Amino acid sequence: MVDLSTTYLNMPLAHPVVASASPLGRALDDIRRLEDAGAAAVVLPSIYEEEVEAEDEITLALVEQGSWTQPEAGDYFPARYREVGGLDSRLEAIRRAREACEIPIIASLNGSAPAGWVEFSSEITQAGASAIELNIYRVPANLSESGAEVERQWLDTVAAVRAATELPLAVKLGPWLSSPGHFARGLVEAGANGLVLFNRFYQPDIDLTTLTPKPDLQLSHPYEIRQALLWIALLRDRVAASLAATSGVETAVEVVKYVLAGADVVMTASALLRHGPQHIGTLRDGLADWIAGRGFEDVGAMRGRLAADRLETTEPLLRAQYAHMLLSYDPAAA
Ligand SMILES: Cc1cc2nc3c(=O)[nH]c(=O)nc-3n(C[C@H](O)[C@H](O)[C@H](O)COP(=O)(O)O)c2cc1C
Repeated sequence: MVDLSTTYLNMPLAHPVVASASPLGRALDDIRRLEDAGAAAVVLPSIYEEEVEAEDEITLALVEQGSWTQPEAGDYFPARYREVGGLDSRLEAIRRAREACEIPIIASLNGSAPAGWVEFSSEITQAGASAIELNIYRVPANLSESGAEVERQWLDTVAAVRAATELPLAVKLGPWLSSPGHFARGLVEAGANGLVLFNRFYQPDIDLTTLTPKPDLQLSHPYEIRQALLWIALLRDRVAASLAATSGVETAVEVVKYVLAGADVVMTASALLRHGPQHIGTLRDGLADWIAGRGFEDVGAMRGRLAADRLETTEPLLRAQYAHMLLSYDPAAA
């Protein structure tokens, strides 16, 4: 049996295939199913900044309302809101998953500003999460806000969460940056122990019947691995952080490619939604078969084999090859 063991965020894992944040991690039974199917770790669905903010606002309103009218309500309403409002149930879900499962349970926070996260990160820590994944996501629609300002806010958010918890902290970021490598280094300096590449944005479509924007969530396809593949290869051994790949995993082929580029773990959501949790076993076994078939000793021997630092030339990864590729494209052969 090939040794697939790896380390992610300082946590030893049996193999690199991790269940990415998705509805498959919502209920305790589903998380157990992912563990039974062989997931090396599970990232829970995100707690959204909007949820934390909404709760803060409602709590504040209730406190104020209570203090104007019934002094005793000030104690009652906030506690009551937390109870029914969702955040407590998210903390409880972390607690129960940790009790029920052997594998690491990673809590996920999604947003872009420190908001209520600092306090909430401490609560997640107390609930027993194995690590936190911070998904920084925001469409910077304000035309007077520069890229540097957006990045600064994200870096401040990471630093604030870092200060609030001792848990390993991964940051899930998007690829749409002028200099993803520079920003990745900044995230590590701000306290990230791991980078999850890349967040997949869900741009709205347009509904031509109602003439309104239409939310549209499409599951991913294997060609979507390319961007993360490139940046994992470029960052491997050049930032002091674990690297997780996310986007486009459908078969073991994508898992193999991500590990060759340098990923410590490979996360999957769409493929599990398409094929069910059992697909994790197929991905893991496919990786083991490939390693055995190519004669590598273990997963460590192949990891990062095609990372930029280990290639004789990075030309095939970078732009010179881009021009060559476009110029040599043969429409007749398409
Ligand atoms: C239905 C669905 C729900 C998701 N929910 C979350 C989430 O709560 N938090 C998050 O960070 N990513 C979420 N994602 C993104 C996935 O974790 C993953 O990063 C992305 O889908 C790319 O991986 P894939 O190609 O394996 O699907 C979700 C994806 C899908 C399809």
